[in-house]
Amino acid sequence: MANKTVLIIGASRGLGLGLAQRFSEAGWAVTATVRSPNGAEALQVLNSVSVESLDMNHPEQISGLAQRLAGQTFDVIFINAGIMGPVGDLAPVTETQVGELFMTNALSPIRVAKALVGQLRPATGVLAFMSSGLGSVQSPDAIEAALYKASKAALNSMVNTLTLQLPEPRPTVLSMHPGWVKTDMGGENAEIDVLTSTSGMLAQLQAWAGKGGHHFINYRGDVLPW
Ligand SMILES: NC(=O)c1ccc[n+]([C@@H]2O[C@H](COP(=O)([O-])OP(=O)(O)OC[C@H]3O[C@@H](n4cnc5c(N)ncnc54)[C@H](OP(=O)(O)O)[C@@H]3O)[C@@H](O)[C@H]2O)c1
Repeated sequence: MANKTVLIIGASRGLGLGLAQRFSEAGWAVTATVRSPNGAEALQVLNSVSVESLDMNHPEQISGLAQRLAGQTFDVIFINAGIMGPVGDLAPVTETQVGELFMTNALSPIRVAKALVGQLRPATGVLAFMSSGLGSVQSPDAIEAALYKASKAALNSMVNTLTLQLPEPRPTVLSMHPGWVKTDMGGENAEIDVLTSTSGMLAQLQAWAGKGGHHFINYRGDVLPW
């Protein structure tokens, strides 16, 4: 009988799906969100998984999800969804593209967190956001992805503000770097596979539970510079 519970936002593929698989294998009850019903197939074969629908960029869908999940308590809420946005030359980038990137990677995760953070288990609950090492403002890597890097730096900043706004007692808040991972976004030349990244993150989510504060860490638990 599962007794630990996790909510994963953006679990149709890649790291979100991997997280759902690792938590399910570990015996947790998993609630996982997808944008389209097609994204649910790989989740539905897992044990103790309940699939919900959410496009984070639609506030009415966030409030709908919060209403459907009302009364449930989660040990971990992991807001994973994100996009790469425009890469390369900044000159042709449109206002719409920048808006979608910063909405998806920085603002929507905060809106989702605000709607659901009250359902974290007191004292030991963990609120996790999928950041990136590229969100560290001193990172020299991936200079072609300037907008993506800025969007993750914006996420880190907004998570810091959100944490300070949360009433005491606050949950542990983690901004996580999953490593450079072989997914649709990370590409086939990435350094590690989804299993390595998500196994590491599962271990870290458990290790940091109850510690409090807001920390920027990678899947191995190393603390990263902001
Ligand atoms: N892979 C890496 O090396 C790496 C490194 C550092 C950080 N990250 C971060 O890790 C997270 C997951 O990346 P990934 O590599 O697994 O990428 P991915 O394979 O491209 O998956 C992205 C996920 O985000 C979902 N998503 C995107 N926009 C959404 C929205 N508006 N509402 C709800 N869901 C949305 C996608 O859903 P659909 O299937 O519906 O599109 C998909 O499930 C992202 O935040 C990414 O920035 C990845």
